[in-house]
Amino acid sequence: MSRAEGAAPAESVSPAETLEAPPAAVELTGVTVRYQARGRRAGQAVTAVSDVSLTIGEGEFTVLVGPSGCGKTTLLRVVAGFEPAAGGTASVHGAPPRPGHGTGLVFQQPRLFPWRTVGGNLAFALARHGLPRAERAARTAELLELVGLSGYAGRRTWELSGGQQQRVAIARALAGRPRLLLLDEPFAALDALTRERLQEELRTLTARTGTAVLFVTHSVDEAVLLGSRVLVMAADPGRVVADLPVDLPRDAATDPAALRGTPEFAALRGTLSRTLREAAGAA
Ligand SMILES: Nc1ncnc2c1ncn2[C@@H]1O[C@H](COP(=O)(O)OP(=O)(O)O)[C@@H](O)[C@H]1O
Ligand SMILES: [Mg+2]
Repeated sequence: MSRAEGAAPAESVSPAETLEAPPAAVELTGVTVRYQARGRRAGQAVTAVSDVSLTIGEGEFTVLVGPSGCGKTTLLRVVAGFEPAAGGTASVHGAPPRPGHGTGLVFQQPRLFPWRTVGGNLAFALARHGLPRAERAARTAELLELVGLSGYAGRRTWELSGGQQQRVAIARALAGRPRLLLLDEPFAALDALTRERLQEELRTLTARTGTAVLFVTHSVDEAVLLGSRVLVMAADPGRVVADLPVDLPRDAATDPAALRGTPEFAALRGTLSRTLREAAGAA
């Protein structure tokens, strides 16, 4: 991803402008990703995403929605630094994406170490981020408090419900105080009630920490509740076809649960459903 360097032409940016406008959390310009197909079409290149440009500002919560196979995970992998772009440029906070550097990741499955306690899982992540041993217990308690699991440090991961395990995965992703959080359908495997509760908590938590977020989902409700903005993708080839601003309040006084019942929520939900159907038709 060496082409991601120098995304902004230096000569056109004065020092004052540089001070006023720090690099975006994520900047993709014309990103195209190709995979080698397997099976029947082995040897052929599949264009997973084509010419995607997007900017995620500091503290912005961007949601990607779209049908299965439209390249949502692929885009997330590019931003995480796992997948090189065949074309275009990608940068995270002004530098080429690199795994683990200021970016926290959460997947559909919690992927915890079953032989470690909850606290042990977090301490391992904190050690990886270079936190001195003496500070790990306090920081572990702080992270658990953040995700509503105070007092769970000594528990075994397999004693926890799916929702609680996913809370630990979120705490682990926050261990390195990331400036960017990437989540790929993190609540898809949870029951409806747990899912709603975790959506509300993630919304409040990220508003509090000011972390920029890229969140992938299939769910219209989830997209509207969480996103400050929703990008709709279509497949074949994967591309962004719509960019919907979500103008729901995100201040500390707003209860996310109460937002679900508002006419504004219903209207946004309707608009997004329609846009998704159009996108599916266009694919
Ligand atoms: N490792 C891979 N090798 C080959 N093709 C892949 C690979 N990963 C994804 N693809 C293909 O790329 C396209 C986009 O996949 P993906 O990003 O996983 O979509 P989504 O997350 O939106 O469901 C699909 O057609 C998928 O089959
Ligand atoms: Mg996916």
